[in-house]
Amino acid sequence: MEKKFYITTPIYYPSANFHIGHCYSTIIADSIARYKRLDGYDTFFLTGSDEHGQKIEKKALEAGVTPQEYVDKIVENAKDLWDKLAITHDRFIRTTDKDHVEIVQKIFKKLYDQKDIYKGEYKGLYCTPCESFWTETQAKDNVCPDCGKELHEVSEEAYFLKLSKYQQRLEEYIKSHPHFIKPESRQNEMINNFIKPGLEDLCVSRTSIKWGIPVSFDEEHVIYVWLDALSNYITALGYLTENDELFKKYWPADVQIVGKEIVRFHTIIWPIILMALDLPLPKTVFGHGWLIIDGNKISKSLGNYKDPRDYIDKYGVDAIRYFVLREIPFGNDGNFSEEALISRTNADLANTWGNLVNRTIGMVNKYFDGKIENKKVEEPLDKELLSLINDLKAKTDEKIESLEISKALEAIFDVLRASNKYIDDTAPWILAKDDTKKDRLETVLYNLLESIRITATILEAFMPTSSKNVLSQIGKTDSDFKCLEVNANSSFEVTSTPSQLFTRIEKKI
Ligand code: MSP
Repeated sequence: MEKKFYITTPIYYPSANFHIGHCYSTIIADSIARYKRLDGYDTFFLTGSDEHGQKIEKKALEAGVTPQEYVDKIVENAKDLWDKLAITHDRFIRTTDKDHVEIVQKIFKKLYDQKDIYKGEYKGLYCTPCESFWTETQAKDNVCPDCGKELHEVSEEAYFLKLSKYQQRLEEYIKSHPHFIKPESRQNEMINNFIKPGLEDLCVSRTSIKWGIPVSFDEEHVIYVWLDALSNYITALGYLTENDELFKKYWPADVQIVGKEIVRFHTIIWPIILMALDLPLPKTVFGHGWLIIDGNKISKSLGNYKDPRDYIDKYGVDAIRYFVLREIPFGNDGNFSEEALISRTNADLANTWGNLVNRTIGMVNKYFDGKIENKKVEEPLDKELLSLINDLKAKTDEKIESLEISKALEAIFDVLRASNKYIDDTAPWILAKDDTKKDRLETVLYNLLESIRITATILEAFMPTSSKNVLSQIGKTDSDFKCLEVNANSSFEVTSTPSQLFTRIEKKI
């Protein structure tokens, strides 16, 4: 059977231009998607924008444009940002896309017809910036548990989704599927803080908002954003349409990447919508931590961030990708600062990876005019390095599977560091002085080039531009995931005009 893989990011609110926090979710998903593609999986990677709701309506009004004009501009900017970050999504879904709108209306009608959605009266507390409704038990002191802003009471006729009906089934599902919510700590949080206290039915329509998808059979109402937004993961694949090959092929999703603040929507509301539609649940919802600046979440409302393109222009796309992936451990928050970014870039990218590539290519040119093959004059100390290289793919597979991306990178950089040490231990410049050691010298450089080839091939998932550059400098244009063990019988012809991969950055910001 063909190996398939479906990965998604949240769809972001285009209420303002995207910041480095949005880049983080998207870079994680992109790296996993790239890794799986390189590993032979037929992969679909979805990202997009969540365009409806009161907040966008207000922003557009302030800017003196229509909501559609407002979001069009931000989405154009976002697409340019994803290009600059080398993001390889297969579709950028917008909740204003015609196909999405029509399918959401069908989903709503289907749930209404089967009585999972019913009409009632909504009374409750609403947070405008977060577009979230809260119950009195959840919201202490009348402030939003997510953003801390004041909530206001609203009352209107509305449609509701019967969450309560599925409460027990959901709890059992989470308990019997330990991979459904990751990291594990969030499973207990969902069960104890949200499910156990009792699920109240969810308001899924509003009459006070105009900027949304109308309920097809009751046009006073627009569909309240979470039902609209969450459905994107299946509407993008053509669910409930005649063109549903993608849906049949890719659903259920393998990994849904979301920030920790929206885990509850993705592990309570979303699975219940799917259960009601009689569809399988995603295999894993991964709730990652936040990038923080001086203890605060980077946020549009706090305005404490720069355009991510400023960082890309200054440090290069791969340094940014590497930093966010390496610096933030599985599920935890990580601090974003230019100082930390510079330290990482200097220590890992310039001094470790760049240095290894540069030294090795330099020696291959100096001692062998750029061309070498394996002379197989082995010594015991080669074994340690070769077995570390040969074990690498299994390690990165395991870390990608468990979504511990920073650990996958750590394993790759262990090999790069060991390779630099191998240069110091074998001292090629001393071997070069002795004519009888010429074949040994060629073997040493061959082993180093194999290390560079294999690490660059795997690193292509994370830092595509630099990896391709390395592979082409050592004369290998194809990054072949099937060839990730040291090959005893190959040869290399390296470039005679090597270029530096990363330059050390002075710590002046
Ligand atoms: N539109 C909803 C999601 C709907 S998904 C069906 C939404 N949008 S959002 O624009 O507010 O941001 C969504 C995601 O952006 C978060 O879940 C998170 O992945 C990412 N981040 C926003 N700020 C972030 C940080 N400071 N750090 C890391 N990620 C952050 O919620």
